[in-house]
Amino acid sequence: MQGRLHDPPRKVNSVTARAGANIALVKYWGKRDLRRNLPAAGSISITLADLETVTIVEPREGSGGDQFVLDGQEQDSDPVSRVLDLLRENRPACRVVSRNSFPTGAGLASSASGHAALVVAGAAVFGLDIDRVALSRVARRGSGSAARSLFGGFCELHAGVLEDGSDCQASALHEPAHWPLEVVVAITDSGPKAVSSRAGMNQTMDTSPYYPAWVASVDDDLDLARKAIAERDFEALAAVSEHSALKMHASALAAQPGLLYWNAGTLACLHAVRELRAAGVGVFFTVDAGPQVKAICLPGQSGRVAATLAGLAGVERVLQTGLGPGAGLVSA
Ligand code: DP6
Repeated sequence: MQGRLHDPPRKVNSVTARAGANIALVKYWGKRDLRRNLPAAGSISITLADLETVTIVEPREGSGGDQFVLDGQEQDSDPVSRVLDLLRENRPACRVVSRNSFPTGAGLASSASGHAALVVAGAAVFGLDIDRVALSRVARRGSGSAARSLFGGFCELHAGVLEDGSDCQASALHEPAHWPLEVVVAITDSGPKAVSSRAGMNQTMDTSPYYPAWVASVDDDLDLARKAIAERDFEALAAVSEHSALKMHASALAAQPGLLYWNAGTLACLHAVRELRAAGVGVFFTVDAGPQVKAICLPGQSGRVAATLAGLAGVERVLQTGLGPGAGLVSA
């Protein structure tokens, strides 16, 4: 199940696209090429249904550059322009109006859904007929994790080996219906995060003695995760996903200065998830470059997990969602 990518050709005034956030189970953390934004290793993620970015792109009349409004606030348009520039040749400047259904910049992958929605809407407004894999390469230039939001359900971003990055792209692993896992996001701090993913992974690459070991271990994790997902083996997926997240954070903790993304609420959630699993609940955790905890649950188990995490000291609130489709156009 993927969102619709192309409208029939017509003169377009304004295009709306949506993309779900995604959560990596095998993490992306570090790059083989900074300028082209090529990850050092592959990653595997799930795309979420209800944590989404909706983006409207419309050509601007007359002169003037791009404009970017996020959640009602005018923003620096340079990051948006850099991505649109990859799609437009002599095409007009645009006004881009984006809205997230969840807190921006708090480790909930808003840059992933944001860039994915942007490339889908941008390609449509410029009248380009580009397939999803090619769009994932464009989205990747904006944010590595964004490439994965082009696909629904279970998705893999391939690091590729070519210098120009033309084989660094996402592909679908399975549709959401293959294994309708549920996700509980425990928000332990809804403010903006202190160190962005990009800055944090650069600092880890430059200074962490554990970074080479981290990169060397990812291919094995990808193999394990692919197999666990294909066979719907929850215990195996829990083991490799928690291992990947903890290793990513271990490499970041060992940077100089050390990157400590977690707070007391984060740790409380990690322990609670482990206790729930020991008690027979199908749940495991993952954590990105921020203090929120994402609890991945077997179908039907997220209610109990949400109730437990919501009751912990240090948890502001919880969000619940299932798996959703890849980025696509929204009908007017
Ligand atoms: C911890 O995709 O935000 O969420 O490519 O520099 O924009 P840039 O990084 P970004 O990093 C995501 C890091 C992560 C793990 C993941 O999503 O795989």
